[in-house]
Amino acid sequence: MNAAGSFSDAWLTRREQADHDARATAPLQAAIDWLAPGGDRAPWQLLDLGCGSGANVRYLAPRLPGLQHWHLVDHDDALLSHAVGRCQPLRDPTSMPIQVTTYQHDLHALESSWLADIDLVTASALCDLVSAAWVETLADACTAHRAAALITLSVDGNIRFQADDVVVNDAEDVWLFEILAAHQRRDKGFGPALGTTAPQALIDAFTVRGFHLSDAESPWRLTPAQRPLALSLIDGWAGAAREQAPQARRRIDRWWHRRRKALDQGHVDLYVGHRDVFAAPEPDHDPR
Ligand SMILES: C[S@@+](CC[C@H](N)C(=O)[O-])C[C@H]1O[C@@H](n2cnc3c(N)ncnc32)[C@H](O)[C@@H]1O
Repeated sequence: MNAAGSFSDAWLTRREQADHDARATAPLQAAIDWLAPGGDRAPWQLLDLGCGSGANVRYLAPRLPGLQHWHLVDHDDALLSHAVGRCQPLRDPTSMPIQVTTYQHDLHALESSWLADIDLVTASALCDLVSAAWVETLADACTAHRAAALITLSVDGNIRFQADDVVVNDAEDVWLFEILAAHQRRDKGFGPALGTTAPQALIDAFTVRGFHLSDAESPWRLTPAQRPLALSLIDGWAGAAREQAPQARRRIDRWWHRRRKALDQGHVDLYVGHRDVFAAPEPDHDPR
């Protein structure tokens, strides 16, 4: 996220492969199973919230069963244009082309009516930005329209530097990650953000409404092959920490130099925890 609170296509493209590699199997399989009984029917109606340039659709379209009509929502017009260009050529697993419709909306104003006729709501790397109240609104809308939700890649705060698979976080890392977690809870346009509490908030909101859940870890495991992404993260975290704790700027700079060098020289790998959550209103889908 840049200083203006928007996401660049370059950043979303840089993280796409790591995101795809990180996806958890069980929640995805639960979504596939839930959609599968549709048989010979009209396309599934799929709503991707905060679609960016379409990375979530590129992951899901070849994996979800049946004909698919994707409805993509974002407030960023430029990202929506990229999403259309890169998602329209996609095909479902039976090689049928998918349909794509875009909507330039502010998700802050999420309305239940957006989910009318939607079978599955999806979002990736979005729900740590939103508020607890927003998750309740989403869960209410899914309940009202008997829609399932597959919400992936929400950060869980489990960040580790590792050397030969041994965690080497020290006191400075713990200190820096606490500042980062506080920054992640700042308002991102939806009220106080959930940040690292997003996975649990999703689980609680859907569980209390009687949904059937499948959730699992989906961490980035960034080895030297993904060094550009790891270095971007360190830069972004240091920038966020400087905003959150400007009085500690010099200490943050020392942390940044040390960890950047260790990553750049291949002395450590970076593990960044996320969680994927699938929630269905009933165990078996009742095609409409
Ligand atoms: C971290 S990006 C994830 C994008 C995409 N889902 C992906 O996985 O690459 C978050 C996305 O949410 C969008 N977003 C953030 N706040 C929004 C808002 N208030 N209304 C609509 N979209 C928003 C951003 O424009 C961005 O595309």
